[in-house]
Amino acid sequence: MSYSFLDAENQVIANSLKIRFYPISLKSAKGTRVTDQNGRNYLDLAAGWAVAGIGYGHQRISNKLKEQYEALSFTSQLSAPEPTMVSLAEKLIDITPGDFPKKVWFGHSGSDANDCIAKLVPLEKNRSRMISFMGSYHGQTMGSLSLSGHPAQSRFIGSGNVVKIPYPNPYRPPFGEKNRLTDQVIQYLEQEVFKTICPPDDTAGIIIEGIQSDGGLLVPPDDFLPRLQEVCQRYGISLIFDEVKVGLGRTGKWFSFDHYGIVPDAIVLGKSLGGGLPMSSVVARKEILDVGTGIHMFTTSGNPVSSAASLETINIIEDESLIENARENGEYFITLLRGLQEKHELIGDVRGKGLAIGVELVEDRLLKTPAAEKTAAICYRCYELGMLVFYVGIHSNVIEITPPLTITKDDIDLAISILDQSFSDLEQKKINMDLVKQYAGW
Ligand SMILES: Cc1ncc(COP(=O)(O)O)c(C=O)c1O
Repeated sequence: MSYSFLDAENQVIANSLKIRFYPISLKSAKGTRVTDQNGRNYLDLAAGWAVAGIGYGHQRISNKLKEQYEALSFTSQLSAPEPTMVSLAEKLIDITPGDFPKKVWFGHSGSDANDCIAKLVPLEKNRSRMISFMGSYHGQTMGSLSLSGHPAQSRFIGSGNVVKIPYPNPYRPPFGEKNRLTDQVIQYLEQEVFKTICPPDDTAGIIIEGIQSDGGLLVPPDDFLPRLQEVCQRYGISLIFDEVKVGLGRTGKWFSFDHYGIVPDAIVLGKSLGGGLPMSSVVARKEILDVGTGIHMFTTSGNPVSSAASLETINIIEDESLIENARENGEYFITLLRGLQEKHELIGDVRGKGLAIGVELVEDRLLKTPAAEKTAAICYRCYELGMLVFYVGIHSNVIEITPPLTITKDDIDLAISILDQSFSDLEQKKINMDLVKQYAGW
């Protein structure tokens, strides 16, 4: 059944909307498990690209949706606001750092939220330029793709006001020296970029992912983000964190920058915020979001049903101690993955924080030649063995592990055994590479 359904889907659904790793089509889901149209169950380590943070089909969300829809199914908050959106904004202000006046903007996707940054930050500072990082993925709309530095956006030129600098990747240091990584990237920014094409007094903001996710689950050195904050403060540049994928508890703290005591000027949220419904947000200094009236608005922004789901999602994260779970079980997961690394030569690096984990596959550990096709094969084999996982990275060779934060140690033991089996099957050439090649991935 799923094959004929996918054939039909292929006839009518735009390819521009797809990244496919294997022929799955879903029917239902609960917790950490999804079920396909043939009734087969899978452990979901992707959580639908990190959207199912609290897991699938949470009863409390279901109840809230019904309650809200029956009370007030819709109002355009642009012109007739209601209290749920305001309570959600108050909650977001409460869980984000910053002892200064903050406000909240709402949208539907990480992309429209990063578009908010692309438009409003230069306007507020009255400076024209922005800086972002190579490998970053901020979205697919024109503003957010302009900020992005990922191959997925490289076919579009975007807006010319954004300068991209290398991300401090400890596994593949952009300037060659791992132990001088922070110094070298910061020096490049201050001595080269600021002195040539992007004067700091015309730079409005720097946007960064605290863990660069689609770029390959890259965790910067501990001193990098504090140093970046210092630079921003020195030149009066706004520091923006894109927390769309790793925010809201995934790294074992509310936000990735909380690991370093950083206070951003603006924080971008999306994906898991809506508990499965489309929802995004920017929490920022009041002056950024108040720079103009009606200049970044969408009719269904902050609609009451999505707002109710989002508020309940945050309450669930607190009530079920999901941040602690992400921290503890993330460490457990990474330890077991490092065990697998000792067994399988293909695993070049295991890294992450909490339940944002990357496993980079290389043909050889010395030269670190990316093993892209084999990464696709491992993901495919995991699917055949009953587990969903995707790959990311500018070289398409990093398995991304972003499961629901509700994942248990038993789930993790199962995941490790499926991964172990997949690596062994690949080593023994038991994976049908012709099937794998039918899926382009990205
Ligand atoms: C860090 C980050 N920002 C923004 C986006 C874009 O979000 P959306 O796909 O909801 O537009 C993504 C999507 O993967 C992301 O990972």
